[in-house]
Amino acid sequence: MPSVREFIKRLREMGELVEIEEEVDWNLEAAAFSTMSCRVGGPILWFKKIKGYPEGYTLLGEPWAGPVHQIWRRLAIAAGAPPEANPFDLGAELLRRLYTGIPPTIVSNGLCKEHIQMGKEANLLKFPWPYLHHGDGGRYTTTGCWCMEDPEERWNNWANYRGMIHTRNGIGYDPTYGQQGDIIMKKWHARGEPMPVAYYVGADVLTFVGAAFRAPWGIWEAELIGGLRQEPLELVKCETNNLYVPADADIVIEGVIRPGELWDEGPFGEYPGFIQGPRMPRPVVRVTAITHRKDPIIPFCVEGMFANSSKALGFAFGVEMWRRLRVYHDLPVVTAWGSPLGSSTWANLWISILKNSPDVVGRAALAFQGSIPGLFRSFIVDATVNPSNTEDGMEEFSLNVHPGRDIRKINAPAAHAIKYEPFLSIAEKKEALKKTVYFDCTSKLPNKRVDFERAFPREVQDWVERNWQGLGFEKPVSITQEKRGEYVMRPVFKSMVD
Ligand SMILES: Cc1cc2nc3c(=O)[nH]c(=O)nc-3n(C[C@H](O)[C@H](O)[C@H](O)COP(=O)(O)O)c2cc1C
Repeated sequence: MPSVREFIKRLREMGELVEIEEEVDWNLEAAAFSTMSCRVGGPILWFKKIKGYPEGYTLLGEPWAGPVHQIWRRLAIAAGAPPEANPFDLGAELLRRLYTGIPPTIVSNGLCKEHIQMGKEANLLKFPWPYLHHGDGGRYTTTGCWCMEDPEERWNNWANYRGMIHTRNGIGYDPTYGQQGDIIMKKWHARGEPMPVAYYVGADVLTFVGAAFRAPWGIWEAELIGGLRQEPLELVKCETNNLYVPADADIVIEGVIRPGELWDEGPFGEYPGFIQGPRMPRPVVRVTAITHRKDPIIPFCVEGMFANSSKALGFAFGVEMWRRLRVYHDLPVVTAWGSPLGSSTWANLWISILKNSPDVVGRAALAFQGSIPGLFRSFIVDATVNPSNTEDGMEEFSLNVHPGRDIRKINAPAAHAIKYEPFLSIAEKKEALKKTVYFDCTSKLPNKRVDFERAFPREVQDWVERNWQGLGFEKPVSITQEKRGEYVMRPVFKSMVD
């Protein structure tokens, strides 16, 4: 898919986009509209006329958000997969594509250079960055990609971190403690050197999936993204450093992060569902150049408590956890799922596993808690439970968790300590809490359930299904295969990094 414009075209053709021609304010209005659309499982909104900004400078709200019970829908559309796809089949296919990888190609020019502003001329305030939540410390960009190079190992990392617009030539850089972009920045600063960076928005929407996806250390996401889109990403060199960005990006911001230079940043309405503060000193990018298309489209995500673009990416991250547990730990994991409900996606993981040995649940929990920063709760259910159905997950939780035996606390490695959750005190946020917990929601005793699939013999279930429409109902009842004790152990793709 060549650019965000192609994605917009596809959404329009499928009736999943509404174009808003009336003037909308970047100050809360665009965000509030998009939030409501997410809440009701509505379309993607493209704001075409932004108050105080020239024609052609537009905002695209929540580009990857899907309805809460089909959060992966627009990602499937972006990937050219059927929107009704089963999320676990879609996930396995995205992983196969990502880890097949296709290296990028370098081109000499691109649409991202239609306008070039160098040095003092570069002005971030030229663009309608949205003010996203009442109470935020500033205007933010939340759906773009930071590009940087490891100064020692000489590989490129791409990642998405929020960026607060400080001034016309200062933008915040905010990787969580322990993220790859945090480790790489610290390497530059330990050498006493500023870190060159580039940040782009727009381009093929799949580039953002690659940037927000937790790629293993040492892998350049541009290659994974090539695999995902099934054609090489075309890259062009920046004006003021040696980094490369997609040639068809909408806006590219180039700059440096100087050692020890911190500006007050935040608070910000974050993914755990609250305004996260206090305002704290954080790294800042001193802008050296801005290049952009003549009609830039700025995508945005209103982080918070509803089925938004961040939660949709959480789906991709659950899929990557499934791969890691299968490939690195050789565990019989059927699915791994970050629920889009509420604000839990990036903190909780539901894992369904085949209990083929007595210690398999504990091993899965330990493997998970050492995997990535921020994840601190896992709910482990039997192989025959589909955790993408939250009601089923909660049923297992309610029926199987023994308060004395099945809630286990584990100490987390320092790098994976949590510091953003709303229940932490300010002192704990500063210190970071090195604790994780898992809930063993698997069944331990052969108690017979009294739900439809298990309380009635198969012939009776079939009889009900056959006669359902005869009773005047529109569709036959769908009978859950998982509750009948069936599950699919999908083959996991062996990647170039395994
Ligand atoms: C909408 C959205 C906003 C995000 N904002 C941040 C952020 O501000 N800081 C952060 O550390 N991670 C953030 N993430 C998660 C990272 O993008 C993700 O962990 C990514 O893998 C980081 O790349 P890295 O592994 O190269 O550090 C965000 C993800 C999404 C989808």
